[in-house]
Amino acid sequence: MRVCIEKMEAKHIDAVLEIEKASFPSPWTKAIYTQEVGQEYSNCFVIIVDDDLAAYISSWSVLDECTINKIACRSDLRRRGYSTMLLNHLINKVCGNSVKYIFIEVRESNDRARAFYKKSGFAKKGIRKSYYSDTKEDAILMSLDIENFLSVSNNR
Ligand SMILES: CC(C)(COP(=O)(O)OP(=O)(O)OC[C@H]1O[C@@H](n2cnc3c(N)ncnc32)[C@H](O)[C@@H]1OP(=O)(O)O)[C@@H](O)C(=O)NCCC(=O)NCCS
Repeated sequence: MRVCIEKMEAKHIDAVLEIEKASFPSPWTKAIYTQEVGQEYSNCFVIIVDDDLAAYISSWSVLDECTINKIACRSDLRRRGYSTMLLNHLINKVCGNSVKYIFIEVRESNDRARAFYKKSGFAKKGIRKSYYSDTKEDAILMSLDIENFLSVSNNR
């Protein structure tokens, strides 16, 4: 099996959109992803397993903060560590750019994503009330302190 991580490019967007539509109640559009891959402040990666796009991550970095906008894995390929690989790749990329913290907002009802972030070392920082315009659901704000994360990983 061949597994590799690549920077997201225009050629990946159709496969990203298929996973996006199956994964999110308010999916981003092709126009949004096309803009994302061209932005200097965005870091978007895909993981390719054999010849299939298995998962992707999209994030923005500004000063010492990185915000994950999206992360999703194809439903039949979940629980194989692909999203963890992408997250680790992002951490390694952005920590060289003076980023100290990674933030994510997650729907309160999204138990599997919350479990994923917790396992990855994120901690709950607060609640944004009625954050999502589609359902008015609250968002849980979670963050990862990269220095702590790397020192724990290196001591394992
Ligand atoms: C959340 C998501 C990205 C995780 O992707 P994944 O590739 O399955 O994650 P991994 O295989 O790297 O999982 C790592 C760990 O996260 C936790 N985890 C992941 N999915 C879980 C689930 N359904 N239930 C409980 N824990 C889960 C587990 O601790 C897992 O480790 P384990 O398999 O050794 O127990 C995936 O479920 C997904 O695409 N969901 C839909 C989109 C989404 O909600 N994105 C997050 C938006 S904030």
